[in-house]
Amino acid sequence: MTDTSFAKLVVFVNALVPLALLLWDVYRKQVGPNPLDFATKTTGMLTLIFLSLTVAVTPLRKIFGVNSLVKVRKMLGLFAFFYGALHLLTYIWFDRSWNLISVGQDVASRRFILAGMTSFFLMVRLAITSTNKMIKRLGGKRWAQLHRLVYLAAIAGVVHFWMLVKSDTRLPLTFGFILLFLLCYRLYVKYAPAQPPGTRAGLFPRE
Ligand code: HEM
Repeated sequence: MTDTSFAKLVVFVNALVPLALLLWDVYRKQVGPNPLDFATKTTGMLTLIFLSLTVAVTPLRKIFGVNSLVKVRKMLGLFAFFYGALHLLTYIWFDRSWNLISVGQDVASRRFILAGMTSFFLMVRLAITSTNKMIKRLGGKRWAQLHRLVYLAAIAGVVHFWMLVKSDTRLPLTFGFILLFLLCYRLYVKYAPAQPPGTRAGLFPRE
């Protein structure tokens, strides 16, 4: 087994651990007085965590010089999509009882649902275009431009979270600040003037 496939296996197994724990809690009836709320909240949080990890890959790769991190980025993004799909499923199933008209009405009337849907459908677009075939079809440059939508998906996810919390906004704000830092870092690396040749790459290298 190569180092890359081993790293992918480690990420794959670890990314499934939260799902296994959630199912185990459901099986043992350890999901509090409102299991549906518990499942929706857990899957929503996992979506945001995996989306943030996906966005963090490039900055971490540049700061610590671990280029191999890029090999697990696609998998992290697909796990964000997977947990997002589970999150949507719990909402449509338990919250709306499969009534798609009521889902549409909810999207139109509650802005936090609209923000969540926006984030999810951006992720759908990214997931569909994540294959090697799609990279070839779109061309590397266009593909990379399209995949910057991951930032928009993450921002919409944070807005969704921020809008739905009633009083304590500390957690959505923390996600928001982390995201802002990652975005500013990417912009800095992209647009800062070039460094003289031979200068060592550090926390703030230039592309
Ligand atoms: C697909 C469309 C989406 C719908 C319909 C939806 C709906 C919901 C609902 C009904 C809740 C529970 C609200 C409450 O406690 O009253 C929730 C919570 C949450 N959702 Fe979504 N959501 C969607 C997409 C997303 C996405 C894409 C993300 C992440 C990027 C996300 C992250 C969260 C988070 C973090 C929570 C709160 C978890 C907590 O309170 O601990 N949601 N969502």
